[in-house]
Amino acid sequence: MLEETSAEGRLSQYPVIMVKAKTWILSKYFDGFPKPSNFELKVEEVPEPKDGELILEAVFLSVDPYMRPFSKFRLKEGEVMIGTQVAKVVQSKNPAFPVGSHVVGRGGWRSHSLSDGSDLVPIMADWPQGVSMSLALGTIGMPGLTALYGIEEVLALKEGETLLVNAAAGAVGSVVGQIAKIKGCKVVGSAGSDEKVAFLKELGFDEAFNYKTVGSLEETLKRASPDGYDCYFDNVGGQFSDVALQQMKHFGRIAVCGSISVYNDTTPQTGPYQQLTIIMKELKMEGFMQSRWGNKHPESLRRLMGWVKEGKLLSREHITRGIENMPAAFMGMFRGENIGKAIVAV
Ligand SMILES: NC(=O)c1ccc[n+]([C@@H]2O[C@H](COP(=O)([O-])OP(=O)(O)OC[C@H]3O[C@@H](n4cnc5c(N)ncnc54)[C@H](OP(=O)(O)O)[C@@H]3O)[C@@H](O)[C@H]2O)c1
Repeated sequence: MLEETSAEGRLSQYPVIMVKAKTWILSKYFDGFPKPSNFELKVEEVPEPKDGELILEAVFLSVDPYMRPFSKFRLKEGEVMIGTQVAKVVQSKNPAFPVGSHVVGRGGWRSHSLSDGSDLVPIMADWPQGVSMSLALGTIGMPGLTALYGIEEVLALKEGETLLVNAAAGAVGSVVGQIAKIKGCKVVGSAGSDEKVAFLKELGFDEAFNYKTVGSLEETLKRASPDGYDCYFDNVGGQFSDVALQQMKHFGRIAVCGSISVYNDTTPQTGPYQQLTIIMKELKMEGFMQSRWGNKHPESLRRLMGWVKEGKLLSREHITRGIENMPAAFMGMFRGENIGKAIVAV
């Protein structure tokens, strides 16, 4: 939204282009499941860019699970919600970012923002015409990198091994399963609806099930892989992991990527505690954040794009229209409404 006004009223010969930004504020820290009352929409004027600065207009915004736990350490009440976006440069006094170019920025939940360019990553120069730039927030962005590093750096997944992944129809999980198939592995995935299970089958998962409707998770995991699991890519944590750890093979490896099942808890979940299982099976468990391998990001994004272009890595997105609907998109993701990456298109 570009609004043209004149700074000096009718006397001005050259009207200044004033840009107004819609911003979503975290008005109150989350307590339990996020609620509409945690958020407030404000309209702010974006200052004119000085030399070296530019103004961005959001095209796609990301809603991600990390925003729930990170809001507590990264934000004060009254600040703009954290987040990344694909944005277009609409005004620029920075030659590195010409008007009309696109970037991935960390401007948070806002339609327009002022930047000095230091926190921006230009979209790949040869981004293919037929690939939506929204994938820079998903398969060819942070979630795709998370999947790749979890598999290669943490699990060191090898051909012929069996991998289990949960939240498998989501942004990270759907890429995990497909990369594991590219590497010649057997993949078992769990997700929260029959439609998601059908999607996992389309992606080539060997076994997929709806964890909400299977009677016994233990029996289901045993049936899907009677010999157990070499690797477990854990996006969910909590009770699912209590059961999954018991199905690991001896010397199994676990990449602890996320624990979305506990992010909205008001009181911490307690046991059963699986230390004895970890000892007896001699399991290796490692938590990780994709940012650890930041120096590899450019090359890794190229590899992900390569697989997309070859048709080996498919992407689905759950697109919510309108920045006004960001809280709804965020809350919907915690209810499992998204198949693939949850995106807000402005
Ligand atoms: N370590 C890192 O660097 C890193 C980076 C990115 C993401 N992550 C983590 O990876 C996980 C997946 O993230 P994502 O971006 O790919 O999200 P996503 O899977 O696209 O969306 C979240 C999904 O989680 C599932 N879910 C929500 N609440 C749940 C609950 N209480 N119990 C079980 N499942 C629940 C839902 O799917 P169902 O319908 O299948 O339940 C929902 O669709 C999250 O835990 C996130 O924090 C970690």
